[in-house]
Amino acid sequence: MKTGKVPLIEVRNVSKFFGSVIALKDVSMAVYAGEVMCLLGDNGAGKSTLIKILSGVHKPDEGEYYVEGERVDFDSPRDALDRGIATVYQDLAMIPLMSISRNFFLGSEPTRGRGIFKRFDVRFADRVAREELKKMGIDIRDPSQPVGTLSGGERQSVAIARAVYFGAKVLILDEPTAALGVKQAGTVLRYIAQARARNLGVVFITHNPHHAYAVGDRFTILKRGRTFGTFTKDELSREEMVRMMSGADELEALSHELEEFARTDAMHAKGKLSEVEQQLAESLERAAKTGDDV
Ligand SMILES: Nc1ncnc2c1ncn2[C@@H]1O[C@H](COP(=O)(O)OP(=O)(O)O)[C@@H](O)[C@H]1O
Ligand SMILES: [Mg+2]
Repeated sequence: MKTGKVPLIEVRNVSKFFGSVIALKDVSMAVYAGEVMCLLGDNGAGKSTLIKILSGVHKPDEGEYYVEGERVDFDSPRDALDRGIATVYQDLAMIPLMSISRNFFLGSEPTRGRGIFKRFDVRFADRVAREELKKMGIDIRDPSQPVGTLSGGERQSVAIARAVYFGAKVLILDEPTAALGVKQAGTVLRYIAQARARNLGVVFITHNPHHAYAVGDRFTILKRGRTFGTFTKDELSREEMVRMMSGADELEALSHELEEFARTDAMHAKGKLSEVEQQLAESLERAAKTGDDV
């Protein structure tokens, strides 16, 4: 599907060791423009280690890293950011009592006036923050309201819109839906679909197969630092995904979940959706629509 195109980012056979701990071994993966690549795996699988390599926090001990076909060797997250690779962590760096637009421009404040008259350009910041959030399909009535008044999902979306505005080509999201309820998770999934519609490459880390399946184009599965490879949606059913993400001992506990999948898949076939899936489907549909006029 993406053959012939140069990936935005690619790692080849990367490994990372912490003393005797093999956090990552021989992992290869690529992310293309206009796709959502899901990074899946249980706790301790190596997901965060891999994205820390991608975002310039860690240097790989083995293997290579390429950005748009060019070999790179990042010394810091700043280097990755300069190449358009932005990472949104679960514990967002935001100041709750400051306004949405102030948070939007945190660290890159637009100013007006000179010398002692130099001050934050509120009007510009409010206008841009409102416009950029609008492009993601979020209507903020008042960008001067404290960011703390937003829901968790909306705050994630401010962080995503900010990364996009400051020129991100690759968006790395570490478990953005983990702490959210169904409706809010749906909101974040919608923004992920929006980012894809704007031709970004998205790395979406989750261990929720529902969320992965709702927006993912391809899936890279990690387990104990190694990869099973990358699969397209056609190549991987949700049951297989769950099976690969967990160990044989955990399978027992998951059998209920697998039954639930089978049930919802059957409902799909009959044109009926569970409430959760209905909500996800609706939010994704809205995303597709608003994506059209972006
Ligand atoms: N800074 C570190 N020092 C020592 N061990 C680490 C460090 N970071 C991660 N690890 C280990 O590497 C493995 C993979 O961790 P991690 O990448 O955080 O997994 P995940 O994000 O998939 O839960 C785990 O065994 C973890 O304990
Ligand atoms: Mg992690």
